Amino acid sequence: MLNFNRGDSAAATVARDPLTPAGAGFRPSRSVVLVGLMGAGKTSIGRRLAQRLGLPFVDSDHEIETAAGCTIETIFEMYGERAFRDCERRVIGRLLEEPVQVIATGGGAFMDTETRDAVKARGVSVWLRADLELLLQRVSRRANRPLLKRGDPKEVLAGLMAQRYPVYAEADVTVDTRDAPPDVTVDTVIEALQGLPPPALTAGPAP
Ligand code: S3P
Repeated sequence: MLNFNRGDSAAATVARDPLTPAGAGFRPSRSVVLVGLMGAGKTSIGRRLAQRLGLPFVDSDHEIETAAGCTIETIFEMYGERAFRDCERRVIGRLLEEPVQVIATGGGAFMDTETRDAVKARGVSVWLRADLELLLQRVSRRANRPLLKRGDPKEVLAGLMAQRYPVYAEADVTVDTRDAPPDVTVDTVIEALQGLPPPALTAGPAP
C-alpha cells in the first residue's frame, strides 16, 4: 500500500532556485489525474501542467465525446446519466493503462468506486478544490453542463460540494485554486506532487 499523505493540503512549499521553473526535470512515474467539481479548472490547469512536465494531456470528457461520437449533453439527453457514467468509467480505465500523462476528469468521475480504485492503483490524484463563488463564476461561462440544468446552478453546485468533497478528499493531494493566475496553481500542484514519496513519483531528466 502506497502512502501518499492522502488529503494533505498543498500548503507546503519546496525550496527551489527561483530562476528554475517548478517542474523542471521532474517526471511523474504515474499519470497525474485531476479531480474536482465543474469549474475547478481541471482542463486548463491540466493542459498547462502537462506542458510544464513534458507529458501528453488528455481530457476524459473529450475522450468520451470522441468515443461516443456525440456531445456529453446528447449522451445525457438520449441515453441518461447512467450510460454516461459507464462510458466514463471505461474511458478512464483505458486512459490509465496508457503511458504516463496528465488526465483531466469530469467532476463525477472520482465518485465512481471503480474509477477511484483504478486511479488509486495506477495514478496519482490531485483534487483542485475551489469555493462555491469561484465555481459559480467559472461555470457561468458555458451552458453545456447537464447537471447544472437540473436546477439553480448555485444550489446544484452547493449540493454537489456537500456530497462530493468528502470523497474528493481521498485524492493524494489537495490544491486550493483561488482566483490566482493558472501558472501559480500549476506551481502549487507541481510542488505538492514533488512532496509525495516514491515510487509514485520520481525526479528524472526531461524525455
Ligand atoms: C459532470 C462534470 C462534467 C461532465 C458531465 C458531468 C459532473 O465535467 O463530465 O457534465 O458530474 O460533475 P467537468 O467537471 O469537466 O465540467
